[in-house]
Amino acid sequence: MTGAKLKVAVLYDVWEDEAAAAEAAEEKASSKKKKKKKKPQSKSKREKEDREEIFEALEKLGHEPFYQVLDGTQPCLTALAKCGSDLVFNLTEAFAGDDTKEMNVAAYMDLLGIRYTGGGPHAHFLAQDKATAKKMFAFHGIKTPFFATAYRGRIEHAHDVSFPLIVKPLWEDGSIGIDAESVVSSVKELMERVEYIQNEFDSPALIEEYIEGREMYVGVLGSYEKAQALPLVELDLSRLPEGTPKIASYDVKFEKDTQAHKLTKSYLVDDLDEKTTARVQEVGLAAYQAVKLRDYGRIDMRLTPKGEVYVIEANPNPWLSSKQEFAMAAKASGRSYTDLIGEIVELAMARYAANTENAT
Ligand SMILES: Nc1ncnc2c1ncn2[C@@H]1O[C@H](COP(=O)(O)OP(=O)(O)OP(=O)(O)O)[C@@H](O)[C@H]1O
Ligand SMILES: [Mg+2]
Repeated sequence: MTGAKLKVAVLYDVWEDEAAAAEAAEEKASSKKKKKKKKPQSKSKREKEDREEIFEALEKLGHEPFYQVLDGTQPCLTALAKCGSDLVFNLTEAFAGDDTKEMNVAAYMDLLGIRYTGGGPHAHFLAQDKATAKKMFAFHGIKTPFFATAYRGRIEHAHDVSFPLIVKPLWEDGSIGIDAESVVSSVKELMERVEYIQNEFDSPALIEEYIEGREMYVGVLGSYEKAQALPLVELDLSRLPEGTPKIASYDVKFEKDTQAHKLTKSYLVDDLDEKTTARVQEVGLAAYQAVKLRDYGRIDMRLTPKGEVYVIEANPNPWLSSKQEFAMAAKASGRSYTDLIGEIVELAMARYAANTENAT
């Protein structure tokens, strides 16, 4: 426990700027369908909610929070450099709407000697490129679905992959580009979906074996050898209509008015035996360490009917809304939302105090 009163900059990005508006206008004017990737409106809404909750928690903890915004312009970078915080609570997911720049924001703060919560540039790089993350998992003996990538005629693969497959953008998060058509069962469907991902998101397509099973999330708190897994949370997809793939699509996650959203809910897992629970948590921890996450993170997994545990992906700096899976898991471990935010602050500060901010 540091106990010290800290000036904490709650850093977030806004991305629906003039450039995006201009791009939207251009798109409308153009008959061609090609889009640059863009996060949907509801994602910005949820960011607003979590930054406010975090701000309030920081106040309750006796810190001095203030908002710092990255709007994708050069002056916002200068303002960040001069913000005078003791710690940045890093909620950014992109720079100027480009989420591949998440790592650059962390790297910029490293160059300036600014302390911040959550993953460093290396973690953002490893986790964001899902194929790279999967290679890391495989190296560490962590089960992850076999996969291939395809981009403009260039195919990379190491294993044979069998249908059904799921086709996703390689770099996106927030289930962007993931819908009922993502799961494919024939070469024709596969080719159409790869084409769609390339054209709509200007992204390589990650073609992955579809793993039938329960969708589980392992929240992790702490850094490297001291990291601990939180209780398991499951997103119950079983009530999705017959014929719809049981996946956490964009609608399931964010579109509150859709049937898909209404029929799905997250629960604390309480029906697994201790051994299986511990096994899922251990795999989650191993994945967290494999892609060098720190302070906090969430590992998305699937548990098959045969008891196999697959890692789907790792999320540095996962969504911290009090209603989301990470906070649910923290609550089940006895931490209030305020405790959770306080612990993330302390974990980050302790890293810097021990001068291990770049420790892996
Ligand atoms: N190989 C797979 N087998 C079964 N389901 C999968 C697979 N890959 C993805 N899914 C489903 O699609 C969802 C979204 O996939 P993924 O987590 O890779 O996307 P994301 O956009 O990074 O999501 P987020 O960042 O919001 O966690 C998963 O939560 C899962 O329901
Ligand atoms: Mg995910």
